[in-house]
Formats: sequence, C-alpha cells, structure tokens
Amino acid sequence: MARETWATRLGFILAAVGSAVGLGNIWRFPWQTAENGGSAFLIVYLAIVLLVGVPGLLAEFVIGRRSNKSPVGALRDLSGSKTWGAVGVFSVVTGITLLSFYSVVGGWILRYLLESGVSLVGSNPAYFANPGQYFGGVSAGVDAALYHLLFLGLTALIVFAGVRKGIEFGTKIMMPAVVVLLVGLAAWAATQPNAAAGYSFFLRFDPSVLSENFFAILGPAAGQALFTLSLGAGTMITYASYLDEDRSLPFDGSAIAVLNTSVGVLTGLVVFPLLFSQGINPAETGTGPGALFVGLAGAFSQLPAGTLIATAFFAVVTLAALSSSISMLEIPVAFLVDEYEIERRNAVIGMGVLIAITGSICAFRPDIFGFVAGTLVNALLTAGLAAFLLFVGWVMGRDAIDEFTSGVGSFGESLATPWLFAVGVILPLFLVFTLLSQFGVDAAIGFWKTVGIAAVASVAAFFGLRNANSVI
Ligand code: TRP
Repeated sequence: MARETWATRLGFILAAVGSAVGLGNIWRFPWQTAENGGSAFLIVYLAIVLLVGVPGLLAEFVIGRRSNKSPVGALRDLSGSKTWGAVGVFSVVTGITLLSFYSVVGGWILRYLLESGVSLVGSNPAYFANPGQYFGGVSAGVDAALYHLLFLGLTALIVFAGVRKGIEFGTKIMMPAVVVLLVGLAAWAATQPNAAAGYSFFLRFDPSVLSENFFAILGPAAGQALFTLSLGAGTMITYASYLDEDRSLPFDGSAIAVLNTSVGVLTGLVVFPLLFSQGINPAETGTGPGALFVGLAGAFSQLPAGTLIATAFFAVVTLAALSSSISMLEIPVAFLVDEYEIERRNAVIGMGVLIAITGSICAFRPDIFGFVAGTLVNALLTAGLAAFLLFVGWVMGRDAIDEFTSGVGSFGESLATPWLFAVGVILPLFLVFTLLSQFGVDAAIGFWKTVGIAAVASVAAFFGLRNANSVI
C-alpha cells in the first residue's frame, strides 16, 4: 500500500504547529515562567528556541524527509545499521511515555470544558466554589482515569482516520480556532482592572534577575523549548516523512517556531492579566501541575461572564491538547505500520489499549505522574534529540546538507554548513550538559567539569554507535 502524504504544504505546517502548540504553551509555559523569574525566563527561552530549537527541528525534518520513514526505519535505513534502528525504538517508548501523562492532563481539561459548557445555562460550574479543593478531588483516581480514557479515545479517533483525513483535516480546523479564541480572550483580558501588573510581570525585562539566575534558568528553559517544539521524540521526523516534494525546510521550520512562540506569548497575555486582575501573583501562590487550574479557575469565578470565558478558555486548551496528543500517538502507530505492515486501525487499537493502561497508572498515582511528566520526559527528550543531532551531523553528513538545501534559495544554502556544525558539535554538547544538570551534576562538581563530562559522553556515545555500523 502506498504511504500516505500531506495533501498540501499548509497542511504539513499546520499539523506541525498543531503538534507544537499544546499544553506545553498553555499549561507548562506560564508556570515555568512564573517559577523562574518571569521575563528573564522568557528571554532565555526565546534564545534557546532560536538557537537550539530551530536547528533541532530542521534536523528532525531532514531525517524524516530523506527517509520517508518513521524514526526506527529512518535511522536504520539511512545508516545501514540495526543499532541505530534500536536507537529509533527509543522514540516509540518516548511517544508512549509522553501520551501516558499528557492524556491525563487532557482529561482534566476535558472535564473542566464539559463542566463549564453545561453551566452556560443554569448555575455556576462546580469548580467555582472552591477551585483548590475541586481540583484535588478530580485530579487523581477513578475520575481522572475515566476522563483520560475519553481524551485518549478522541485522540485515537483522529489518528485512526489517517494522515490526510484525520491529522491534516483536524489540525486545519483546530489551529485557526485556537488562534481566534485566544486573540479574543487576550483582548478581553486587557480590559480587566490591573491587567497592567500582569503585563509587567510577564514582559518587563529586568537584567539583574537574568544575570543572577542564568544557570538556574537554563535547564528549565531548555526543557521547555524542546517540549514546546515537540523535539526529541521523533514526532517531527514522522511528520516530515509524509512530505512528498522538496520545499524549503528552513522556511517551514522557522514559520512553525514563530507560530508556536506567538501562541505561547499570546497565552501569557491571557493568563497573567487575568491572574493579576484577581490579585493572584503566580510567583507567590503554589505552583505545580494543578496551578493553572486552581489559579485561573479562581480568577474565572470572580469575573463577569466568567462561565462563558472559562468555556472559551478550556475549549482552546482542549483543541490545542488534541492536536498535540495525536502527534504523540502517531509515533508508535507509524512505527507499527511502517515496520510490521500492521493496518493503521489495528495499530491504533493496540497502542490505544496499551496507553489506556499506562495512562491510568499515571491517573491513579500522582507520584508516578509527577516523575513521568517531569524528570523522565525531560531526560528522554534531551537524550533523544542529542541522538538525532549526532546522527545528522556524523552519520548523514553530506546527505544532510543535500536534503537541507533541496528546495531552498541561495540564502538557505549559505546556512547549511553552519547548521551542520551546530547540529553535529555544539548542540549535542549543550544537550548533554543540560541533561547532566537536570540530575544536579553541575551543582555537585562545577560548571567546567560538567562540560568536560558532556564532551566525553557525546564522543563516547557517538563512537559506540559508529563502530556498530561496521558489523553490518
Ligand atoms: N509540543 C506539545 C506541547 O507543547 C507536546 C508534544 C507533542 C510533544 N508532541 C511531542 C512534546 C513530542 C515532545 C515530543 O504541548
């Protein structure tokens, strides 16, 4: 059977933007910003998106479009080595891990949407009365598991419909709806009293916060940049593998990064003025996974037409979350379809059942949820992206340049060599460093020693995999 492709270029861009724009922008970004010094975090994050995110995105695109395969087949076929294929299997594991916790959060959101929607006529949503207590009651246990199953079911339906009729069609509707609703909400938030304090927290840049906390901000900012651009799990390899003509990847990649960042900032322009208008300072109130629900729900309950605003807000979040969760499920599904020629329908059912179980574990056990959503996902994404970059830099080499430059103009061509150098040398070093610092290594032994270990580890990992080539 012929492999599916995107129907249009815009379809590919919107699908990739749909993957990127998600809970990472709406749920994770405002709170990472709040926890890490407001606008100082924003600056570091923007710099990493530009300097690490965009080149990394292009690396995944180059692997996918060159091979027309999902990660396992792509790494194996392009290198001729089964060991690299095994590295690709990591992305299948990462995709399943991501969706296991993401679907639980998606379930919370769905619940808040339904709760707000049915309250449009009649009384206030139940969570208005005591947001903290309400969230505590529904965020774990049977309720959380049931809504996780509902969210996962919606995800599976879209993926089941295929690349064009499911993912492309779905994101073409969902993404514009997200932007229109967010712009409306941001405009409305601007009219609220004390909105200015929110903007100032979010946007007023204070260099001293940055210089004093630079290394503390670096790790979370890097993790956020990878997560929000859907990097390190092979999502973008898989999506680019459905491209059939050579169009400019640097153009598409930059457009995707700009759109994704704009939605993140736009969300901040909704969330922060609303919180400050109700006298909630996010740097002072508790943070953690429930913070968005508790803080914003509290703000909604105080606002005129709060139920309507809450419904619109949770509709945005649901659509954004779904257009991302489908890109997570597509990784293991494409793997089964490509490698074992399993029918898409059966692949979706099989993976759906597996994630129904792993997600339910996250729904019942907040401790496991916290570990998976934080440490485990950060480590998997960072290590995954480092492996993809080393692959592009050292295994693909000239082929990568060739793929990068096909369909670009002379400006794009001039970027190819610096890009390959960054991807092969500088960025893996940076990623391994942040991986080590996520585990507290630099705090324990100091900055330069950690850089040294990162360099040795990158070189060792690369040679280990390179020697594996000669076996085949
Ligand atoms: N980028 C999405 C978000 O911000 C999440 C996501 C989708 C993702 N696919 C991914 C994250 C692949 C990492 C890897 O919500």
